[in-house]
Amino acid sequence: MADSDAAIEALSFEDRRFPPSPEFVNHALATDASMYDDATKDREAFWAKQAESLDWYDKWSTICEWNLPFAKWFVGGTLNVSVNALDRHVVAGKGDKVAFHWEGEPGDTRTITYAQMLDEVERFANVLKNLGVKRGDRVNIYMPMIPELPVAMLACTRIGAAHSVVFGGFSSEALRDRINDAEAKVLITADGGYRRGAASGLKVNVDVAVKETPTIEHVVVVRRTGQDVEWSEGRDHWWHDLMDDSALEKHCEPERMDSEDLLYLLYTSGTTAKPKGIMHTTGGYLTQVAFTHKYVFDLHEHEDIYWCAADIGWVTGHSYIVYGPLTNGATSVMYEGTPDFPDKDRWWSIIEKYRVSILYCAPTAIRTFMKWGTKYPDGHDLSTLRLLGSVGEPINPEAWVWYWNTIGGGRCPVVDTWWQTETGGIMISPLPGVTTLKPGSATHPLPGVVAELVDEAGKPVTVGGGYLTLTEPWPGMLRGIWGDPERYKETYWSRFEGRYFAGDGAKLDDEGYLWLLGRVDDVMNVSGHRVSTTEVESALVDHPTVAEAAVVGANDATTGQAIIAYVTLKAGETGDEAHGQRLREHVSVKIGPIAKPKTIVFTDDLPKTRSGKIMRRLLRDVAEGRALGDTTTLADAGVVEEIARRAATSPTEE
Ligand code: WTA
Repeated sequence: MADSDAAIEALSFEDRRFPPSPEFVNHALATDASMYDDATKDREAFWAKQAESLDWYDKWSTICEWNLPFAKWFVGGTLNVSVNALDRHVVAGKGDKVAFHWEGEPGDTRTITYAQMLDEVERFANVLKNLGVKRGDRVNIYMPMIPELPVAMLACTRIGAAHSVVFGGFSSEALRDRINDAEAKVLITADGGYRRGAASGLKVNVDVAVKETPTIEHVVVVRRTGQDVEWSEGRDHWWHDLMDDSALEKHCEPERMDSEDLLYLLYTSGTTAKPKGIMHTTGGYLTQVAFTHKYVFDLHEHEDIYWCAADIGWVTGHSYIVYGPLTNGATSVMYEGTPDFPDKDRWWSIIEKYRVSILYCAPTAIRTFMKWGTKYPDGHDLSTLRLLGSVGEPINPEAWVWYWNTIGGGRCPVVDTWWQTETGGIMISPLPGVTTLKPGSATHPLPGVVAELVDEAGKPVTVGGGYLTLTEPWPGMLRGIWGDPERYKETYWSRFEGRYFAGDGAKLDDEGYLWLLGRVDDVMNVSGHRVSTTEVESALVDHPTVAEAAVVGANDATTGQAIIAYVTLKAGETGDEAHGQRLREHVSVKIGPIAKPKTIVFTDDLPKTRSGKIMRRLLRDVAEGRALGDTTTLADAGVVEEIARRAATSPTEE
């Protein structure tokens, strides 16, 4: 864990403490340790109690069946997710309550109540049925941040189809591969979306992707930007045509789903080139996201205006824009665009306009705001905020304290929440009315979650650095990797026997606080997005001029990590700036703009051990400008010095 040493050093100086304020405690849902005590006494009973806050058709017969590493939760129970997210609030007389205050990037807005959401979801569920989607099928979704996106997801849940949402920033090839892996029948998309004031295209990518997706029978397209699109009669349908069809049945009877039926697939990058389809099921997942959303954010259903500023294309949006908040009957803000359009105060103007009380975002955003300066937040009334959350990457203490002071006005607890696509919901986080905060620490596992740090040999660590593992099953845990049960065992359960290994390093201080230190495997974290080094390497090597490539994540003050690629070209090729630009574009086409290397270093050779393994550790040293570590195991020590010389002069894209 060479990377982590510097972080451990830095963290050991951080001893500021922020206990919950009396004002916050007076009003908080959880104010003492009783939930922790209940969960310690009987973990399964604790989770069953949380599950009881959902509406079930049939109650479960067994809380948890644990066949390491395969778990089933609330076995025998039946429920429908859309009913929990919508119908039950409408039935309880809250149909007029706002589910989403949606704000489009150009400034257009929509206010959608629970009753309106339900109406749209039922109708779109019937649209899907009419297109031949059946219980157990998969539906792909590739959309911008518009209200039709949660409508489409919930419509799938209504009829028992699993959705697979692909982030709109992924390329057509990435989309194609995910569709083919899931074998989806229908794809839901839009003509395009808005980003920084311009319309970007989605349907164009879809048209390329579906040329090679034999299972897709229909494409449903929302008209968002009005740009010209190509049309394939019979295959393509406008969303509004299908929804406005007078023959369309308005009511859609919800399917009674088994607790363990597949709810969705979400693809995430691992240490290999092929992304994994993470499987989440119905009852356990919904229990986990509803519980965590309520208690971590101290949600007061009737007062709070909650805003999770993530994209629904990632797990944070699935769990904390769609499933958690709707199940809890919350009023949310949903925003389509970027924080700097039309100006760098867009977020603060949204908070002021909707009187947002809870904000959940990523440290990358916070560090960017710090760079832009306080004049943007200072120009707005942020006094409605009462709680701030952070997710996606370690938050450095400076950013935490800036968030606390400048955005939270020194009165809002900052909850740093650690979790993963695989965990389904938040695992490690303060409870804001209970936990004394330390800037940069995610503090403790939530009630019902058991985490342990272990050393190389799998021996528990009580103080100091180690590997983060989870030792007991939890309701929202992934149920496997789509189509590859062996890979599930091997990826998550084989490094330390009997433990789920999350891929993260962490440190425990002498008061039992956890400090997350980032990935210890070949996964990079760029602006809170997971990108696999191997995936980027494969994309580069796929280019006809490239002989070999090695990719590392280097520390970056704004994005957390930046992608640095070391590339060896085939004989006769020249590694100049234009060539670097072509390779960046190629990666963008293969994966998406998020995976574009910031710097490409052309080199005649890569540092390898005598057995031919690329020494990424040394490449990281070079990328981060450190003195080179031990080079004695290298086959040719001169190679890395040459690379360091070249790296110093390689062009970098901002
Ligand atoms: C990292 C996002 C430190 C971590 C919800 C994890 C964090 C990966 C935190 C999962 C945090 C997430 N502190 N690191 N609070 N939250 N991570 O699957 O490395 O996109 O393994 O899920 O993000 O990323 P994913």
